[in-house]
Amino acid sequence: MTEKIDTLNQKLREAYLGGGEARIEKQHKKGKLTARERIHFLMDEGSFEEIGALVIHRTKDFGMEKEVYYGDGVVTGYGTVGGRLVYVFAQDFTVFGGSLSETHAEKICKIMDLAMKVGAPLIGLNDSGGARIQEGVRSLGGYADIFYRNVMASGVIPQISAIMGPCAGGAVYSPAMTDFTIMVENSSYMFVTGPNVVKTVTNEEVTSEELGGASAHSTKSGVTHLTAQNDIDCIQQVKTLLSFLPQNCEDKPAKLPYELGDETREKLGTIVPPSANQPYDMREVIEGICDEETFFEIHKDYAENIVVGYARLAGRSIGIVANQPISLAGCLDVNSSKKAARFVRTCDCFNVPLLVLVDVPGFLPGTDQEWNAIITNGAKLLYAFSEATVPRVSVITRKAYGGAYDVMNSKHIEADMNFAWPSAEIAVMGAKGASEIIFRKEIKAAKDPVAKLAEKEAEYAEKFANPYSATERGFVDEVILPKNTRRKLIKAFSMLENKTVSLPKKKHGNIPL
Ligand code: HXC
Repeated sequence: MTEKIDTLNQKLREAYLGGGEARIEKQHKKGKLTARERIHFLMDEGSFEEIGALVIHRTKDFGMEKEVYYGDGVVTGYGTVGGRLVYVFAQDFTVFGGSLSETHAEKICKIMDLAMKVGAPLIGLNDSGGARIQEGVRSLGGYADIFYRNVMASGVIPQISAIMGPCAGGAVYSPAMTDFTIMVENSSYMFVTGPNVVKTVTNEEVTSEELGGASAHSTKSGVTHLTAQNDIDCIQQVKTLLSFLPQNCEDKPAKLPYELGDETREKLGTIVPPSANQPYDMREVIEGICDEETFFEIHKDYAENIVVGYARLAGRSIGIVANQPISLAGCLDVNSSKKAARFVRTCDCFNVPLLVLVDVPGFLPGTDQEWNAIITNGAKLLYAFSEATVPRVSVITRKAYGGAYDVMNSKHIEADMNFAWPSAEIAVMGAKGASEIIFRKEIKAAKDPVAKLAEKEAEYAEKFANPYSATERGFVDEVILPKNTRRKLIKAFSMLENKTVSLPKKKHGNIPL
């Protein structure tokens, strides 16, 4: 028996070494942790249980039968994060560059299937040279097996992808179909075709980092939701993200204990400037409303004219969508509509209530926007809000103009509670633009057209640049003092705790993609 135990221990020791000490050292020299180290930092101490540590590949071509590593380039298993069950796979770059073989894919599929059966989140730590070149189509099949499971799991369990090294070719489509992607700065990249192919096809010279690094995907493409300074920061962000999400679509996010006190926040009354055209940072409003230092922004550097992210309100996990007046005056455009629509749907899948802060002068005009389908993309956000069945509460802080008023979680698309600050202006458009159109003849005929315009502008503003016309009709439930906003929202979300809504029976809706 001792001999048999020694054999097992020897095999496990080999498995734990992955591709060997030299390759581990190479990984460390690049500033990267190994797959096992990453799992160690992710999981609660001692909670990780590995599945398939002794799996080996089945390839006999190209001398591969002589090069065999236990685990075959991916560490898979389950454990707890903050006491909650999660499933994890971590690709091991020290074994064939973390490339995906048939057996490597089978290991990932096995834990995906378990995560679905049990209803627990899946975390993927990606660090891979892509398809195992020696395996050809078997590897491609393995990818498709994973992709299919990503889709089946979508909206059922949270799926989070950390990109901690290369992720190229078709391999990018697994992270792309998960709920969140986090990229490590300067050591990860994602692209469908790399710099060499780009050079051949388009003659563009570009580095991997420029083409598909964390910075490119956080600012230009929006492919990544978050970026991290290093592996440890990345893992910490995965944990933070998880803390706002439930185990699955039938569960609710954990509510932290919170004792209600004086929830008045005087500072909220000092943020909106006196002039309607002066910008202010909506993050200050968010921070004033939410529990201290809990705001966790998603897609921070992409489409900055809308702010989205998670926070806690009296211990409850909420998702926030907020127009941002310091960027493009808070207009909705193609990218901000896509960004917010995706976030609304992610919150709705996982029962995270939505708080919407509105200060929107309308949709961004221009040929660029029209030709890039602001119609279809704006419709995504309208559709996403309309379809969301989680508790939905809006606060109009200043402008709510035109179609954007309807889109931004208005009462008409079944928002549950709509508040407005006294500074709110709910109208078809701003007073100047409106007066120029409806009083055009009168202004033109006036002795002093400038003075006439000012007079008409004041008249229009008096009538519509306030929250009362909408409140009188019940489109706004209550005009509240800014300093009372936090208290009002805590009560509203608590009142809505057990909201249930059923959508009409259908196969699935047809969101304008
Ligand atoms: C087999 C691979 C491999 C792969 C790397 N290795 N990629 N083995 N299949 N795809 C091996 C290397 O031979 C090497 O083995 C070790 O991993 C580390 O690789 P290095 O090149 O030394 O590392 P580095 O310099 O850091 O470069 C990393 C890399 C490069 C940029 C990822 O290895 C590379 O370009 N690999 C090929 C990428 C690729 O074209 N993949 C296929 C994409 S198509 P030793 O023994 O020396 O340690 C694809 C399709 C998916 O993925 C389709 C899904 C639908």
